[in-house]
Amino acid sequence: MITVIGSANLDLIATVDRLPRPGETVPGDGFSTAPGGKGANQALAARRAGADVRMVGAVGQDAFAEQALALLQEGGVDLSQMRRAETATGIAVILVEAAGENVIAIVPGGNGTVSPSDVAAAKLSADDFLMMQLEIPLDAVEAALAAARLAGAPSMLNTAPFRAEASGLLAEADYVVANETEFDLYAEALDLAGDEREARMRDFCARTGRIVVVTLGAEGVMAATPDGVVRARGLAITPIDTVGAGDTFCGYLAASLERGLELEEALRRAAAAGSLACLKPGAQPAIPFAAEIDEALKAN
Ligand code: RIB
Ligand code: NA
Repeated sequence: MITVIGSANLDLIATVDRLPRPGETVPGDGFSTAPGGKGANQALAARRAGADVRMVGAVGQDAFAEQALALLQEGGVDLSQMRRAETATGIAVILVEAAGENVIAIVPGGNGTVSPSDVAAAKLSADDFLMMQLEIPLDAVEAALAAARLAGAPSMLNTAPFRAEASGLLAEADYVVANETEFDLYAEALDLAGDEREARMRDFCARTGRIVVVTLGAEGVMAATPDGVVRARGLAITPIDTVGAGDTFCGYLAASLERGLELEEALRRAAAAGSLACLKPGAQPAIPFAAEIDEALKAN
């Protein structure tokens, strides 16, 4: 079972011709709301990949709560450990530019109340595969990674969004997944050795014994493992909305590893899933199903 302890948001998405500069107003040409939040997105991606998934966290007591959880509910993710905090539901205000770039501001709401006591209540066991992100308080992330280790459960930490204070936590997960910008920032914070990204990834792996996976956008993905470097490519696509692509990658990667695929094959499936997620607007609505990945990989 994949257990995600993390964030759920309602995304408020405006599409614009180009992103405004500070102090500037630009016209938008579309608005929509969709369920989001890195934790929830990754939970749904793992579910659509075919895994059994439970999501632990907190939404608020407002009308957004139900909307934020609608697709997880519909998809059959176990939500029995999603609390209703006495706050608002987390939201993300997202501007997406015609060329596919985006900017996001998040207000954590219920996500900010997730704590080590939620982790304790989740009772992690060796049957769990723990998947974490950095949109909840770091004491909860730390407690979860420690509990997974104690229980003998494999763990994955997606290092998004970048938080310098989280640098020390990277070594606590079996798999660390970062995008290239995040990895470069953590490499600096951790003072990793080497001039190039690949060398720094190898240094992280050598120091910690953990597998580090770095997504490279259109260039695919690279992983440094104790046995060497592994690469995979995504699909050749023209992105229309990259929001949630990284989360889709993480969810598929965790689900593929949990069911025993080799790292290289798991990376290939996850990269294909991340590519397909860029072809539709929104985070959760764009997450592909396993059959679509099979098709795309056959055709590739
Ligand atoms: O990774 C994409 C997600 O980041 C969005 O769904 C938004 O909610 C923010 O958390
Ligand atoms: Na998308």
